[in-house]
Amino acid sequence: MTESARPQPVTTHEPGVVKVGVVGTGRWAVRSHIPGWQRDPRCQVVGLADVDADLVKAAGDQFGVANVSDDYRTLIEDPEIDVIDVVTGDAMHFEVTMAALEAGKHVLCEKPVHHSYAEVDRAADLAASKGLKTKLGFTFRYAPATMYAAELIREGFVGTPYMLNAYEQNSQWLDPETPLRQQNNPGHPGEIQVASIEGYGAPVIDIMHWWMGSPLTSVVGTMRNFVPERMVRDTGQMTRMNIDDGDMFLAEFDGGGLASVQSSFVTVGNYPGIEVRIYGSEGAIIVRLVEEAGVCQTIRTASKDAVEFVEREIPQRFFPHGGTSLEPWPFLFYSNLVADFATEVLSGEPDNQGDFRQGALVQHTINAFEASHRQRAWVDFPLTPTA
Ligand SMILES: NC(=O)c1ccc[n+]([C@@H]2O[C@H](COP(=O)([O-])OP(=O)(O)OC[C@H]3O[C@@H](n4cnc5c(N)ncnc54)[C@H](O)[C@@H]3O)[C@@H](O)[C@H]2O)c1
Repeated sequence: MTESARPQPVTTHEPGVVKVGVVGTGRWAVRSHIPGWQRDPRCQVVGLADVDADLVKAAGDQFGVANVSDDYRTLIEDPEIDVIDVVTGDAMHFEVTMAALEAGKHVLCEKPVHHSYAEVDRAADLAASKGLKTKLGFTFRYAPATMYAAELIREGFVGTPYMLNAYEQNSQWLDPETPLRQQNNPGHPGEIQVASIEGYGAPVIDIMHWWMGSPLTSVVGTMRNFVPERMVRDTGQMTRMNIDDGDMFLAEFDGGGLASVQSSFVTVGNYPGIEVRIYGSEGAIIVRLVEEAGVCQTIRTASKDAVEFVEREIPQRFFPHGGTSLEPWPFLFYSNLVADFATEVLSGEPDNQGDFRQGALVQHTINAFEASHRQRAWVDFPLTPTA
């Protein structure tokens, strides 16, 4: 696209103010998104929508938002709104996102935007064609410890990245009685279905691409179903659910770097259970985002001249105003995520980290991992598009 053909960046209707409409007011919206937006003095949550009329009314009362609706289109058609924040269940992410982009709104969407990377790319293209900003709910990219590690990597602390190990694992669904949304593939009941890698592996795959800093060239991996029967949230019945509740894969990068990724929600340990380790020619960094003794994040580093890992204090500039590592992690990390989006939307500059393009790359990686499992073989990256 030539410079003259490139669409003008869209900022906000009122200079310096970001007006937000939140679609879906379930558990995650009230724990992270809405409190995060309301923490930032530049942002105003001006509308809420949920198909559950009682739930959206309760959220409106809790957060002091008068404009509530059981139809998300009310928010999309509202000329006052700059940003649509999509926090519905996965099935509605793409529909709401595309409608919001068509209407000229910037969009923050929970992952996945779509199960197919090509569709996520289509959403990214639509946003680009209209000069709109997008953001994925890559919560852990915005943890102060992760942002500090990224700065250290950028400044050369690690040197050339050699190897990265990424884990996202917790015991959230170790107990089969813990209700889970139905996730079987009705057309293929015998075929293991992607679940944990998409919901739980995605954030560390995002960090893997970001920190390794070179193109992925191939993956090999496997999915497992360890807990065959589970309580389905909507029916309250124990049901066969053939999903990947544990995954492992290896990745090769241009230039020779290697990564391993392990993701599961049946592994003993506290939520959210993220750990990413990067080892390079000059040094190494270990970031842990695991709530332990009330502390939600740590960063430890070592260098080739001082190989014993030591904990680093995270500089205050990586926290929202008044924030600490003792806050609940959904509130702390999401405060940073939405503040970053507000800055990007207000700036009118091209900066847009963790956007749909990055979401498409992460989804593409998951699609390649799934293909490798099904073929029981290394799969080259990028995948060859199918007609
Ligand atoms: N990024 C993270 O770390 C993280 C953490 C937790 C959840 N999530 C994601 O957040 C999303 C929401 O999760 P949750 O636990 O809050 O689920 P939830 O089921 O509690 O809430 C989803 C809400 O969306 C509403 N909804 C469904 N269809 C709608 C429609 N057409 N219009 C308006 N509202 C609609 C439902 O009524 C429900 O209240 C999911 O995609 C989940 O994967 C992300």
